Amino acid sequence: MSIIPLSGRRIAIIGGAGFIGHNLAIHLKAQGADVHVIDGLEVNNLLSLTGNKDSVPYPELMLQVVTERMRLLQAAKISLHVQDARDYHALSHILTQIKPQTIVHLAAVSHANRSNKNPYMTFDHSFRTLENALDWARDGAEHFIFLSSSMVYGNFKTPVVNEETVCEPLGIYGALKYGAEKIIIAYNQVFKLPYTIIRPSALYGERCVSRRVGQIFIENALMGQPIKMSNGGAEALDFTYINDLVDGITKCIENTNARNEIFNLTYGSARSVGDMAEIIKEHFPGIEVQDEVRDNLMPERGTLDVAKAGRLIGYVPSWSLDKGYPRYIAWYKKFFERSQALARPLVEG
Ligand SMILES: NC(=O)c1ccc[n+]([C@@H]2O[C@H](COP(=O)([O-])OP(=O)(O)OC[C@H]3O[C@@H](n4cnc5c(N)ncnc54)[C@H](O)[C@@H]3O)[C@@H](O)[C@H]2O)c1
Repeated sequence: MSIIPLSGRRIAIIGGAGFIGHNLAIHLKAQGADVHVIDGLEVNNLLSLTGNKDSVPYPELMLQVVTERMRLLQAAKISLHVQDARDYHALSHILTQIKPQTIVHLAAVSHANRSNKNPYMTFDHSFRTLENALDWARDGAEHFIFLSSSMVYGNFKTPVVNEETVCEPLGIYGALKYGAEKIIIAYNQVFKLPYTIIRPSALYGERCVSRRVGQIFIENALMGQPIKMSNGGAEALDFTYINDLVDGITKCIENTNARNEIFNLTYGSARSVGDMAEIIKEHFPGIEVQDEVRDNLMPERGTLDVAKAGRLIGYVPSWSLDKGYPRYIAWYKKFFERSQALARPLVEG
């Protein structure tokens, strides 16, 4: 094993203006890395939110959240290259200019249900962009990191899965992630491109606009709406705070032990949606809880074993749901107050 210093390391993050990407970029930059974000801003970002192409419930608030990301990237002096990575030649041109040593590939349609509704678009933004990036990386990069998903496992047949568990994805999103893992391994077989495949799950944290359960609960609470859950909130997920994932990806960049490996990077212990609802109730007393019908195309999941990442790269997640979720709630409350103040018309007194 050897440790690669982050200071001065050229890192390109494709899809880096998204939820994971901007948090990762800011962290890596603070460690001294030379970070470049490449992002088309068209999917689940500024351009899709303008005009509300995905019909999200609070588009103005979401626009303020993604604008805040841009402000933070700019404040950290991180180069943002606005480019659609589906364009092979344009992407290659930018990568040739940056000459990244490490590429982190995040560009995708990052929603399981949106992927099932629009497989063509999902293939294009997830698979086409990946192939374009790999094709530059095979001669140019030292290390290629890909964000896969716990959805590759499909329905968990046991409460805990590890990286050896057989993958049987359910639906378009999981199938494309699994296909992506295979194409990355093929690039390693054919071109010796070193890779790391990361499988996160149920992420939550500051400036997410992806409408996963943790975000929906807070937004509904802020807007005085009820929160909804199926099966009385019994479903268990390996909720993972963004700081743990960012720490894990950073360890994959730094540690040569991560090369040519697949890692689960989660908190490593599932909690029920009902537990998450209890935390919300503490912060928003009196909030109403309603039942909703379960989406059967969402696999039944559970805990992802993170022992391999612990052993090989020293990954130790430290943000339990009880610690991470209240922090996210506190941030959102403050951000919401500020955003409401900005939206309020000035009254001359
Ligand atoms: N957030 C989670 O819980 C989670 C869990 C497992 C896996 N992942 C995976 O991690 C990755 C990042 O997730 P996220 O939560 O940050 O998603 P996100 O939607 O916030 O970010 C994705 C980014 O990719 C960009 N993008 C999409 N198509 C592009 C294209 N053609 N060219 C350039 N940029 C493009 C988007 O503009 C967006 O900024 C995704 O691949 C996602 O599938 C996320």
